[in-house]
Amino acid sequence: MKLQLLSDLHLETEAFDPEPAPGAELLVLAGDIDSTWAGYQRFRGWPVPVLVVAGNHEFDGRDVDEALRDFRRFVEQLGFVFLERGEHRHVAADGRVMRFLGTTRWSDFDLFGAAQRPRAERAAAYFQRVMKATRHGRPFDAAAVREEGLRCREWLAAQLERPAPGVDRTVVVTHFAPSLKSADPRYGPQPGTASFCNADDDLIPRADLWLHGHLHCRHDYTVARAGRAPARVLSQARGLAKKGEDAGFDALKAVSV
Ligand SMILES: [Fe+2]
Ligand SMILES: [Fe+2]
Repeated sequence: MKLQLLSDLHLETEAFDPEPAPGAELLVLAGDIDSTWAGYQRFRGWPVPVLVVAGNHEFDGRDVDEALRDFRRFVEQLGFVFLERGEHRHVAADGRVMRFLGTTRWSDFDLFGAAQRPRAERAAAYFQRVMKATRHGRPFDAAAVREEGLRCREWLAAQLERPAPGVDRTVVVTHFAPSLKSADPRYGPQPGTASFCNADDDLIPRADLWLHGHLHCRHDYTVARAGRAPARVLSQARGLAKKGEDAGFDALKAVSV
């Protein structure tokens, strides 16, 4: 089947009109669509099912627990499927069963190893100041982001470990990236990169396709698997046109899985 992936449209400031990709059986929105949430209304009445995983910016200025509850309700009222540590199965037109596992998968800051974590967490302070999210009345700081990120990873690893009888393809959807390979080539690897990518490389081969956003660039690479077709990692972020990040962005790209 074919699916369409969009992320990082940032409709809170960007002008962009989404259109359905011809032939796509499903649309995946992998976060940072609109920090005000209003832009999600543009997908109302979409001709195929819409799967939503929240980005970090969907929590901007909010209590993360309240926002998670309210955002789920909001997107479900729009008729979409919301995934946070959640699974959705889709029977493709050809009868194959597609399993979607979705979680924001916040940073755990271990991208460069535990010894480098303090540096990575210090580098994250800038993003947390911009984000202004809270939890239990306190800033949603690096320690809190890490705690949530580890919870996401634990759930995802357990799902990928478990046998899934009847499932033909497994698609993971996260907002944060699963590998340093998804780093933005404009900046190169630096402590701040751990605010964008996690070292989930060990999990990638357990998925057939891994979709993510967060980096304002596109990625499409594979990871070899013994005796099986390679796992594919794909990002289809639009980013900010005012920074030229949308150059080469193909909104109608449909991905086969
Ligand atoms: Fe973004
Ligand atoms: Fe993001």
